[in-house]
Amino acid sequence: MSRLIIISNRLPVTIDKKHGELFYHPSAGGLATGLASLDASIERLWIGWPGVPIKNAKQKEDIKIDLEKDSLIPVFLSKKDIELYYEGFSNKVIWPHFHYFTQFTTYQDEYWEAYQQVNRAFAEVVIKNVRPNDYVWVHDYQLMLLPGMIREHFPNISIGFFLHIPFPSYEIFRMLPWRKEILKGVLGADQIGFHTFGYMRHFLSAAYRITGHEHQFGKITIENRLINVDVFPMGIDYNKYASTETNLFEEDKTFIIKQLANRQKLIISIDRLDYTKGIPQRIKAFEKFLIENPQYQSKVTFVMIVVPSRSNVDTYSELKNEVDTLVGAINSKYSTFNWSPINYMYRSLTWAELTTLYQVADIAMITPLRDGMNLVAKEYIASKEATKKGVLILSEMAGASNELTDALIVNPQDANDLVAAMIQALEMNEKEQAFRLEKMQKRLKIHTVKSWAENFMKEQMNLMEQQKNQAVKTLNSEDKKALLNAYRNAKNRLLVLDYDGTLMGFQNDPKAVSPDNEVIQILTLLKQDKKNCVIVNSGRDKPVLEEWLGYLDIDFAAGHGVYIKQNGKWSVNPGISNQWKNEIRLVLENVVERTPGTFIEEKEYSLAWHYRQIDKGLGEKRVREFRDVLNYLTANLDLQVLEGNKVIEIKSAGVNKGKALFNWLNGGRYDFIFAIGDDHTDEDIFKALTNEAFTVKVGLEKSDARFHVRKVEEVRQLLNEMTK
Ligand code: UDP
Ligand code: G6P
Repeated sequence: MSRLIIISNRLPVTIDKKHGELFYHPSAGGLATGLASLDASIERLWIGWPGVPIKNAKQKEDIKIDLEKDSLIPVFLSKKDIELYYEGFSNKVIWPHFHYFTQFTTYQDEYWEAYQQVNRAFAEVVIKNVRPNDYVWVHDYQLMLLPGMIREHFPNISIGFFLHIPFPSYEIFRMLPWRKEILKGVLGADQIGFHTFGYMRHFLSAAYRITGHEHQFGKITIENRLINVDVFPMGIDYNKYASTETNLFEEDKTFIIKQLANRQKLIISIDRLDYTKGIPQRIKAFEKFLIENPQYQSKVTFVMIVVPSRSNVDTYSELKNEVDTLVGAINSKYSTFNWSPINYMYRSLTWAELTTLYQVADIAMITPLRDGMNLVAKEYIASKEATKKGVLILSEMAGASNELTDALIVNPQDANDLVAAMIQALEMNEKEQAFRLEKMQKRLKIHTVKSWAENFMKEQMNLMEQQKNQAVKTLNSEDKKALLNAYRNAKNRLLVLDYDGTLMGFQNDPKAVSPDNEVIQILTLLKQDKKNCVIVNSGRDKPVLEEWLGYLDIDFAAGHGVYIKQNGKWSVNPGISNQWKNEIRLVLENVVERTPGTFIEEKEYSLAWHYRQIDKGLGEKRVREFRDVLNYLTANLDLQVLEGNKVIEIKSAGVNKGKALFNWLNGGRYDFIFAIGDDHTDEDIFKALTNEAFTVKVGLEKSDARFHVRKVEEVRQLLNEMTK
């Protein structure tokens, strides 16, 4: 049976050490609270840090045994690890950077060293505990290298990764010196999930620009692995908050309600003490509200719960001072004998306190400057299931604002916007409150944390199926054996080889891709065998092929079949003209002028526009723009427009790489035909050949070829084996 192996930096329980004694309590924060309420229908193991440094070996053992009962496996971190990996790289580099607080990003190599080392330590615990058919699910920014590290050990295991915080735009992400390694780590996963489409888009853009991996509708192929990048907005355990059965806590509840009884209207906010949460901005906006609306003084109380978090990190402790000062100043200025404007608590809440507050609050003001999702907003909405009374003011910078569109959406930096929302919320009639709440509740009821996890897992399982299907077509060792056997037994062989992307890898400058020694060696040996007819069938022009490979005395089809070289003699396919070139050149020149970094390659019978050096998105936009023009112009000129790998080529319609082959097929009797190529234009070759031919596509995209190999290195390996 497959199990689900969850790995997060923090376990859902945190240990507290007081006077040498250990206490276990639930961890705070969206990740732990969300995942903890997953149902247990699938056997699962949870690996993570228990939250305190433990030195004593006996104590470690005791903790292990305690946690094991709940299927939790601890990864112990030393004081140094906590300082450099957790407080350092995780919370002084990635956290601020990914939340657009680049002024707080601390570029220190020793943090990076520790991050790698602790990710490695997690990997070791995972490797010890995981079975090859388990589903591994790695969570969040503290463990971005982990998928790659697990992948090294288990090339075929199914790994998911979910980022609970925003993924910043490429312009921000690229500033990190370790950007490549981080992406490589994450791309070790098969499925990569984000809360919003925006984060996903940023990730795909960074992956393309930094590692060169392109995507098609969110799917990336790396070597033989198909990776799915997708959006999975995390939900909450709706019923847990919606249920009014708080009898258990009736005492607490009555107490809180009594305390709040004399206050007419209650605004709440609940966050960890974090600079991303917009706490000072919110306090200032509340003061502005009091100044501009004195009629609400003594009538509205702001209950502000701030949960202690990461207090050893300077930026957090400084924020604590700032918040204390701001609240003190406002309370001292506006308080009366029976009212203080802000009821500020710096501690975590019990479950009873939390749910009661949600239930009694007239308004929740959740205004982070950046937030991956924000579960507090969702929990507040669910808590209003019974009463249908309450208003949510929500920052547009929180991932949750994409779903909770019936909240009063505000820009957290705009105090006027916040004040206006407070007034609107205070004055909103109950009918409108219920209308808005119901719409949001309807969504949250369906998209719970359970369905979130189930969807993620379901997609991951589907992906495994797709990966398997793809693997069927890759040239495996059996196919290879059959191919080489047929080759050896044959007396008259035809070998058709594409050049760029097949024999040689791509470079930015096409002129720079002259054949290297290995390719020359392979072609020489293949040619030496008298049973072989070797053709390089390329889009390259005649002079280039002649200069690079002519002396080897092999055959060519050049310029996508325009020129043929057979038995040492070049000829041109009859009926080809180049009268059209002046007209088309003008169109291409215009495109080049508007798209620096691209260029035209002029061949005798064709024109090509190369856009390898520019942003792929821009290249594709230009292609879309001028394809229509070209199609119109070429309709009566008998031309065709070929789309290659970051190149568009216009040439006479009468020939292509496949048609060129008939010059050989019609003349010879071959008992072994082998053809290999990587782009759209090579599909004409595959189509021109019968099913007995060994046709091989380089790359895993859809093709008419019978087999696939992944990359140039594998092509060379195969050809090398033929020469032996
Ligand atoms: N929470 C908690 N203890 C508290 C107050 C809140 O565990 O004293 C929970 C809250 O119910 C929510 C989570 O902490 O589930 C906060 O998640 P959110 O996504 O809002 O923010 P994060 O802390 O992840 O940035
Ligand atoms: C956010 C992060 C979590 C983290 C939580 C609490 O929700 O996405 O990964 O666990 O904050 O932070 P802490 O540093 O206490 O684990």
